[in-house]
Amino acid sequence: MTDFVKEVEDRVASYVNEKEMRKAASDFMRASTQPKYCYNFSWQTRPIIQYPQDMVAVQEIIWDVKPDLIVEMGIAHGGSLIYNASILAMLDMCEAIEDGRTIDPAQSKRRILGVDIDIREHNRIEIEKHPMSSRIDMIQGSSIAPEIIQQVKDYAADYERILVCLDSNHTHSHVLAELEAYAPLTSVGSYCVVFDSIVEDLPEDMYPDRPWGPGDNPKTALWDYVERHPEFEIDKQMFEKLLISVCPDGFLKRVK
Ligand SMILES: C[S@@+](CC[C@H](N)C(=O)[O-])C[C@H]1O[C@@H](n2cnc3c(N)ncnc32)[C@H](O)[C@@H]1O
Repeated sequence: MTDFVKEVEDRVASYVNEKEMRKAASDFMRASTQPKYCYNFSWQTRPIIQYPQDMVAVQEIIWDVKPDLIVEMGIAHGGSLIYNASILAMLDMCEAIEDGRTIDPAQSKRRILGVDIDIREHNRIEIEKHPMSSRIDMIQGSSIAPEIIQQVKDYAADYERILVCLDSNHTHSHVLAELEAYAPLTSVGSYCVVFDSIVEDLPEDMYPDRPWGPGDNPKTALWDYVERHPEFEIDKQMFEKLLISVCPDGFLKRVK
């Protein structure tokens, strides 16, 4: 363990006593949801529906895991696809430099597979013309439809190090079905990241036009799943470090 990693671990462990910071972070999450703060950002021009803190967390995970495939449920404007693809591109570049090789993106096996029930034509056009698009494949359909699950499994069969991100419909039953279908694709040492588990911690009336809310959301689904799947552990340290995140308990690490 490097000095930096140890220092961060010790500092983050002490945050349990940082009542003022914890309250400020939780107040911010509460206050920033309805003003749609997470809709304000883009990555290489594509809108990404994320808090910047969670983007950094995903970058750390990608750098640690070095996946050759990232499977994502929920594309929207394609921001997270482009973001993850660009981090994979940087990973390829750094590995090539370390090995003294020239960089040939066409030779890279590292790819992103995104699934969305509704890939809007204008989004598809923008994603497909983006310089990162050569690393991206997309499937349109419900992430819990048997034929889509099979397509994703067939695609993933050629890959060894797989990272899974679930960010589509946020009801308990939907996320649980996604976990049953896709969490097993997660390679040992990698993660299944479950977005929007924060819904459990927000007031009942925060999402008046959505079917999810406290008691019925990604966190209740992942708790249910993890209880029956000891091969996954909740990486508590990641959320403790972020504090501002839509993924409390949502960083599931595959440990066996
Ligand atoms: C929060 S957005 C995804 C944001 C994106 N990951 C990002 O970071 O920019 C949720 C997406 O899930 C999609 N979605 C909703 N229900 C779905 C389903 N049953 N299967 C697949 N995608 C679904 C929606 O169409 C929407 O584009």
